[in-house]
Amino acid sequence: MAFVFVVTTAAVSLAVYIIMSKTLPYFRTLQKKLDVISRITRENISGARVVRAFSRGEREEKRFLNAVEDYTETALNSAKISALLSPLTYIIVNLAIVVLIWLSGSRVESGSLSQGELIALVNYMLQMLTALLVVANLFVIFTKASASASRINEVFETQTSIEYGENDENNNWSFEKSMKTVNNTPAIEFENVFFKYTKSSDEHEKYALSDISFRLMPAMTMGIIGATGCGKSTLISLIPRFYDADSGKISIMGCDVRDFDLKTLRRVIGVVPQKASLVSGTIEENLRWGNPAASDDVIWKAVETAQAYDIIKSKPDGLKAPVVQGARNLSGGQKQRLTIARALVSEPEILILDDSASALDFATDAALRKSLKSFNPDMTQIIVSQRISSVRHADMILVLDNGRISGAGTHDQLLHSCEIYKEIYNSQTEEKEAKSGGDAV
Ligand SMILES: Nc1ncnc2c1ncn2[C@@H]1O[C@H](COP(=O)(O)OP(=O)(O)OP(=O)(O)O)[C@@H](O)[C@H]1O
Ligand SMILES: [Mg+2]
Repeated sequence: MAFVFVVTTAAVSLAVYIIMSKTLPYFRTLQKKLDVISRITRENISGARVVRAFSRGEREEKRFLNAVEDYTETALNSAKISALLSPLTYIIVNLAIVVLIWLSGSRVESGSLSQGELIALVNYMLQMLTALLVVANLFVIFTKASASASRINEVFETQTSIEYGENDENNNWSFEKSMKTVNNTPAIEFENVFFKYTKSSDEHEKYALSDISFRLMPAMTMGIIGATGCGKSTLISLIPRFYDADSGKISIMGCDVRDFDLKTLRRVIGVVPQKASLVSGTIEENLRWGNPAASDDVIWKAVETAQAYDIIKSKPDGLKAPVVQGARNLSGGQKQRLTIARALVSEPEILILDDSASALDFATDAALRKSLKSFNPDMTQIIVSQRISSVRHADMILVLDNGRISGAGTHDQLLHSCEIYKEIYNSQTEEKEAKSGGDAV
């Protein structure tokens, strides 16, 4: 009799194993297909206006429906297999009961087994059935969970390419101190820096930056100009170590950036990214990102320097004015000015503006540059721009072309020595002349 129980347990376990091994791959693809659905949904919600502007509504609907149908099909297939589990368990256990009764029949007749004992055995078998069903259902849940867990682990196991500086001495490193003690040390120095985004072994892979070398002394302003995609944003993202250079050396006040504590490094450097992004909350919460303990004086000074005073004055709630998700209640230029103010609140020693004046008119742009100088005369600045007018007053201008430096110097020097700079200058002055000519007519 015990043998019947052993065989039944083994048979049910085998059934569970076969069904699980068939459904597990389905659960994995199901999670991926769910990703696609949420991605399409997110794209369509955040880009609702673009979808409407290009009349893509119907096609996007179809794309969504396709994704949902794809998901449904896989879900149905896996459900069909999982659904076999309960009936299969029932069949095996009931067959076992039949065998049990059949085997005991003659024994009950001969009196070696009482009817009560037989009923007890059948009851044991039924109890086992309920327990096995619970276990089988648990397995379904575990299989789903393990598919999800392995995907979460993929994220957890991703190693950051940026390693923390090993040199602990630099954790208490002070910019002010080293500025005073080390004379003639450039605030930022690049030595033969090469960088590419994809780290494949393909030798022909194009470098986003090649052989970049320059020195920028403290309290100086450097402009970076060049065509779209020439590597301006890439160059400045190496300074706060958003990426590490493939070869060459980048130093800040004579210290290799790789030796810095990342927190110190990023406290010293204020970055205004090309794409202005603010988080939902109030304007003040956004401004305090760099320094939660900033005094009101500092905040107002930063706001005035960034030419954002009018924006805040025009809001009835002032600094407490709400910023909605994606800062949709602010214009492009307003967002840019607030991101500049946010960077200034942390009172950085080095300020990097990546095309941050692109949405500002010429007069505001000029006022911004002037007030940045008076905000902190010791602040080293890097201004990335497509406009000559934004960089022409810089102490040094780098002209980038296809990831290489094609010229460096002041505005006047470059006009004589750098062909590309001259071209940009001519195209922009012609534009201006054409505009003023048009106005006169
Ligand atoms: N995250 C990334 N992954 C892969 N390639 C990238 C990445 N970011 C930029 N690139 C590539 O590196 C090159 C330089 O891009 P970068 O953003 O530095 O240009 P840019 O000079 O700032 O242009 P723009 O004036 O339009 O802002 C481009 O060819 C771009 O395609
Ligand atoms: Mg850029």
